[in-house]
This record gives sequence, structure tokens and C-alpha cells, in this order.
Amino acid sequence: MSFSKNEKIELDIIDMTKDGLGVAKVDSQVFFVKNAILEDKVNAVITKVTANVIYAKALEIVSKSKYRVESKCDVSNSCGGCQLLNLDYKKQIELKKQIVLNTISKIGKINLDDLNECYEGVIAMDTPHRFRNKMQVPFAIRDRKVVYGFYAGRTHHIVEFDYCLAGFKGSDVILNIIREAIVKYNISVYDENTNEGVFREVLIRCGNASNEISLTYIINDKNYDKNLELYKVFDNYIVEEYRKGEALRALVTSTLNINTSNTNVLFGNKNIILRGLGYIEDSIGSVKYHISPESFYQVNMKMTKSLYDKVLEYADFTGNENVLDLYCGIGTISLYMEGKVKNVLGVEIVEKAVENAKSNATLNDISNARFICLDASKITKDIISSNAAGLNFDTVVVDPPRKGLDKATIDLIRDIDPKKIIYVSCDPATLSRDIDILCNIDKKYIVQRFASVDMFPHTMHIETVMSLIHV
Ligand SMILES: C[S@@+](CC[C@H](N)C(=O)[O-])C[C@H]1O[C@@H](n2cnc3c(N)ncnc32)[C@H](O)[C@@H]1O
Repeated sequence: MSFSKNEKIELDIIDMTKDGLGVAKVDSQVFFVKNAILEDKVNAVITKVTANVIYAKALEIVSKSKYRVESKCDVSNSCGGCQLLNLDYKKQIELKKQIVLNTISKIGKINLDDLNECYEGVIAMDTPHRFRNKMQVPFAIRDRKVVYGFYAGRTHHIVEFDYCLAGFKGSDVILNIIREAIVKYNISVYDENTNEGVFREVLIRCGNASNEISLTYIINDKNYDKNLELYKVFDNYIVEEYRKGEALRALVTSTLNINTSNTNVLFGNKNIILRGLGYIEDSIGSVKYHISPESFYQVNMKMTKSLYDKVLEYADFTGNENVLDLYCGIGTISLYMEGKVKNVLGVEIVEKAVENAKSNATLNDISNARFICLDASKITKDIISSNAAGLNFDTVVVDPPRKGLDKATIDLIRDIDPKKIIYVSCDPATLSRDIDILCNIDKKYIVQRFASVDMFPHTMHIETVMSLIHV
């Protein structure tokens, strides 16, 4: 059978992809269907035909899946941020569990029965809404009005929203006030097609426990120093208006970030603090953290503690361990080990994050944690030894970005040869690739235990913590 673009077709959804698309099969032809969930029957239109798969979009539901729930978000089908808002949360968790197991079994080449024995499943959220502590929101002009929203998946089309159910409570109010302030102070809005206009995006961050909020206004203004007074008045208006409302939280600091480049990179190189200290303070458990706008901080304000508690549980420290924490960010995991290890050395590529990590150690009066700013793939055992006075590491913690570990980092781990590796991963596929190397190719490690934490409800993303022990 052959199919063509714009053709309409009825499809039974039998599975879901890791991007949250429904999967259907007609004879042996595979379809990936937008806005359809497991066990829906839909009328769909074909949007793209490729050699292996046909993409389609559901136009109407012919018969509804028993897992279908009503989305409380007005724009969930167009925004692309939360692809699974129509899928019952319990079913989301079941699907993620299967994805983790199947991926590790297939790519990591580990027997499914063995995996089942050491997999503790997915730790789910009690209330999977209003969990994001960070909102990055672009602004634009549409029909001569200032609008804001999220970019629809893989596009630069802004989908406007009045409220976002993923964002922390109060974020919607702040966004509205920022829009008002842009209009009131006649600040032009950036147009990425012409590279003209000033206001590009805002980054709003909120402490999980402290409720402190930082605002970072990303602007395209070469003459920012001449306009500083205007930006201060603009910021004051936002703070004052926010305080007049419910103001559950405190806007403690605002920063201007000057980005005059014509690229998709969020931050420019120049920061000017308009108010406060340029960072917020937060705490996880008993450990306090300073967080700058550029630094990585886990986005789920309710689940990060569960994630870090799993790291500690799996590490099972006796108090005598020397630990290497690769990809340490602002030192969150390193410092969470407070009182449980002999020494910890954190390695991180972002300079500002390393500054935060060092001041966080001081803030918590922790003297056995050191931090260096380095590309994990460029470090050698010698570099580490000179920074860590020749420590031999018993445990290596890795928490890389989605792309996982590169060859140089795996070589470093081989060189260190730790007794235990704790791997924190936001992509089961790259985790699986890396453990295949460590467990099957090198035959040096076995998977001891692993669990997933649902840091990203209503998306197919899932975080996994795994302990690997030396054979
Ligand atoms: C997933 S985050 C984890 C951070 C930290 N463990 C936490 O839980 O907050 C990954 C971190 O790795 C850093 N990073 C990315 N590439 C790196 C590299 N090549 N070398 C060192 N750090 C890197 C990022 O800046 C980010 O802070």
C-alpha cells in the first residue's frame, strides 16, 4: 500500500514513541501520530512521508482510549511542552518504566529478567502540576501587540498561553506584569528575523524551598549602559506590581543579560545586576545553595530531593570515601554528601556554576568539598591529582547532559577504576550505551540497582539513577 501527504486515514494507536507520538501500523507501514495516545482510534491526516515512517496528525478521536483524560491546559496540543497531558498520569509512569527497561535491555544489552530484579521502578509525583522552578519565555510582537509564550516543538513559532500548569505558582502573574511593563515603558520587542528590537526573553527562577525568585531580562541593546535608568525603573515597576498582588514569593534579584547576537543561544556574555545579589538562595534538605541564572539547577522543585536521596542511598557511603562528582553544576550533589564522605571533588564546565559551587561550600561550612572548572572530557588523572592532592577515588558520580559520557570521560573512569559508579541520567538511551561499554565490553562493572524519578511529568522524559559496582 502506498500513502501520500494530506491523505486522510483511520488509525489504531498501539504504542507511543519516546517523543510522545502515538504509534500505529497499517500492514507493515509504521505511523507516528501527533495528538493521539495509546488505545485511541483516530481520524488522521498524513503530514510527512519518509522512507521508514509516516507522520500524521489526529484530526478527531473516533473512539477514545480508556487512558485518555481531559487536559486542563488550553494549548497542550499546540505548545509541545507537555505532550502527554491527555494521558492518565499512572499510565505515563507505566510507559516510562517500560521505556527505561526496554531501552537498557536493548541498547545496554542486559537481560530483561536481570534488569527487572534490580529495577525499583519510577518514583512518581503526588500532584504532577506546578513543578517547574524555571521558566524561559520569549516575547514577540503579533498583530501589533506584545505577546509571550513557548516555542512550539522544533519551531520558532510562539504559542501564547495565559497560564502554564507546569510553571510554579505565580509565574503567570509575573509574565503578565512584564508584558505590561514592556508596553508602559515603550521597550521594543526583539524580532529574530531582522535582529532588531530590544526585549528578547525572560528567565524566571524560583527557589524550591526558599520561594526566592530571580528575573533575568535578556535584551538586545548595545547601548544598555546609557539606558540603565530605564531598565531599573522597568524592573521596579515589575517588583512593585507583583508585591501588590498575592505575592506568595519574593522577587529578590533582577539581572540584565545583554545578548546582541543573531543566534539561538540564550545568554550573552554581559550581565548587569539591577537589584539584589544576582542569585537566589535555596535549600534541598539541610543544604543551602546559591543559584545564578546561568547555572544548571534541577527544574522539578518537588522531586529533586528524591533524586539526590537515591544517589546517597545507592552510594551507601561509610564516611571514608573519596568521591569524584563529574558534571557537578553548582555542587548540589557534592554538597548533599555533607558529613557522609571523606572528600569530594566536583568538576563542571560552566565557570559561574563553579563559582556558585565554591561559595555554596563556604555557605554550608563544608571544607572537604573542592571544585574545578574543566571540561570533563579534557581531564586526566594527573590534572585531578594535582587538584585533589593525589586522591584515589572510591566512588565516581556522573550526571552528564543528555548526550551522556564521551570516550575521554569513559577512559578517565577506566583509569580511576572506582569501586562504585553512580550514574544519574536524563536519557535512558545514552545511559544504556555507556553501561554497555562499562559492563559488557570492559566487563568491569555490573548493574547493582537502579530507579527512575519522574522529574518531567507529561513528557516522555525520565531521570534514572543507577549504581554500578566493580566486579
Ligand atoms: C544534568 S546537569 C547536572 C548538574 C548537577 N549534578 C545537578 O544535579 O544539579 C549537567 C551539568 O554538566 C555540565 N556540563 C556539560 N558539559 C560538560 C562537560 N563537558 N564537562 C563538565 N561539565 C559539563 C553542565 O553545565 C551541567 O551543569
